[in-house]
Amino acid sequence: MIVKIEAYIREDKMEDVIDALATIDIHGITCYQVMGCGSQHGVKEYTRGKQEVELHLLPKIKIEVLLSTEKCEQRVIDTIQKAAYTGEKGDGKILSYDVRSAMRIRTHETGPEAIQPSD
Ligand SMILES: Nc1ncnc2c1ncn2[C@@H]1O[C@H](COP(=O)(O)OP(=O)(O)OP(=O)(O)O)[C@@H](O)[C@H]1O
Ligand SMILES: [Mg+2]
Repeated sequence: MIVKIEAYIREDKMEDVIDALATIDIHGITCYQVMGCGSQHGVKEYTRGKQEVELHLLPKIKIEVLLSTEKCEQRVIDTIQKAAYTGEKGDGKILSYDVRSAMRIRTHETGPEAIQPSD
């Protein structure tokens, strides 16, 4: 079983989240700088007249982590939640998915072996 965890977090929480994942022995991570909005439509201050019809995208970070087993899925989700939390709107979201296949290009290994640490 391969699981993919995806998280949308604040830019200034990226380092804390990556450090926290390293402490639970997660080392394979992909990060993206993205633009996004959630249920507030990205509006930070209600000073614009047209905010009800506009989406104001704000810079966010997207993180992806692949796991070779479902075992540590909840641990990774809880670790990201704790490290990314401020309690204010805009803290982000964490999602998880089942992954159908994976391959380590160098060795042709497939399945969970493709995700597990190599020598
Ligand atoms: N429905 C969605 N679809 C795609 N991306 C989303 C969605 N909701 C949130 N995101 C992504 O997550 C980021 C942070 O969202 P945010 O935390 O503001 O969600 P929210 O549902 O508005 O929660 P809150 O009420 O805590 O602000 C967004 O900028 C966007 O990148
Ligand atoms: Mg929001």
